[in-house]
Amino acid sequence: MSHDLFEAARAAMAFAHAPYSKFPVGAAIRAEDGKIYAGANIENLSFPQGWCAEPTAISHMIMAGNKTIVEMAVIAEKLPLCPPCGGCRQKIAEFATAKTPIYLCDETGVKKTMTMDELLPHSFATDVLG
Ligand code: THU
Repeated sequence: MSHDLFEAARAAMAFAHAPYSKFPVGAAIRAEDGKIYAGANIENLSFPQGWCAEPTAISHMIMAGNKTIVEMAVIAEKLPLCPPCGGCRQKIAEFATAKTPIYLCDETGVKKTMTMDELLPHSFATDVLG
């Protein structure tokens, strides 16, 4: 992984709106166009309305016309190796393959690399839909 993906995730974390949890998270995706799309968690006074860093990054990727996550980095200031939550794993899987690498970072860089299949084994898949 090139260092710029980690740097983008770390920089994105600074934009987190996390006044309730005080748990900033940053995520960065390299998409099929080679560009990086980053995001932070955005919380809400009505707590369930907040969302994670990963879907913010996915939204940026989609709105730039991409559909494929080539690689992704996630960082949380207060938790080295912050793994994407269960809901985020499903969201990431929509645009990833079983082999897509997800980099879990601390403030110094990538500390662990996991594939999508390791993060979300036995994922929901069917040809009945779509
Ligand atoms: N959070 C993320 O942004 N990504 C994850 O994968 C785990 C949790 C956020 C949601 C909430 O704003 C804060 O971290 C505490 O759960």
